[in-house]
Amino acid sequence: MRHKKVKNLAERIEANRRFIVDDPRAYKGKWREFFGIEGPLYIELGCGKGKFITSHALDNPDACFIGIEGLGAVLIRGLEKAAETEIPNVRYIMEYVVDIRDFFEDDEVDGVYLNFSDPWPKARHAKRRFTFGDTLLKYRQILKDGGFVAFKTDNEELFEFTLEEIERLGLPINEMSRDLHNSDLAAREYTTEYEDKFRGYGKNINYVKIWG
Ligand SMILES: C[S@@+](CC[C@H](N)C(=O)[O-])C[C@H]1O[C@@H](n2cnc3c(N)ncnc32)[C@H](O)[C@@H]1O
Repeated sequence: MRHKKVKNLAERIEANRRFIVDDPRAYKGKWREFFGIEGPLYIELGCGKGKFITSHALDNPDACFIGIEGLGAVLIRGLEKAAETEIPNVRYIMEYVVDIRDFFEDDEVDGVYLNFSDPWPKARHAKRRFTFGDTLLKYRQILKDGGFVAFKTDNEELFEFTLEEIERLGLPINEMSRDLHNSDLAAREYTTEYEDKFRGYGKNINYVKIWG
């Protein structure tokens, strides 16, 4: 996807670098020590401009939140949101994830959020989808007992693919809706930038939570 050129991007990232974890691999297994918070650890992959994770974290000061986003031109908005409140319980990894286990230890994470993940529509790119079966099993490895993966998307094809992967692997669905915002599920409480945009067009939002 093309993005508008962001003005003074390098300077703005530098000014907010305190919200980026420079060497995230060093904290594998030690994220609670890193935050100085003993509570739950939640991560969002492809967190974009950070609206979801920031609002979630402001309401839950006893939990730690890590947003992972490869594109500095969108993450800058998340960094600047963090600076508005000097939020203590959100930090960002500014990298494209290849294998989530590079950053998190087995049984370390309480929840993985996948919000409006890139669809990778070509069949030959299926392995790159964040809900590809093998990738779901990698999340399972870093999740604690009782941990969950929560996935939201406007994209019907990606949602069907995800349900097929879940069924193929026999994973337990905990919650699901094909119209999240007309349901009474708590997952509709914190929205993302993409979600707000698609809801504005009247688009239904698909949601599934596995494990948990
Ligand atoms: C469609 S946007 C959704 C952003 C946000 N979650 C939302 O709902 O508004 C997907 C985001 O995932 C990021 N992304 C894609 N692949 C990634 C990867 N492997 N690691 C980290 N970020 C990734 C993209 O740069 C993009 O910002």
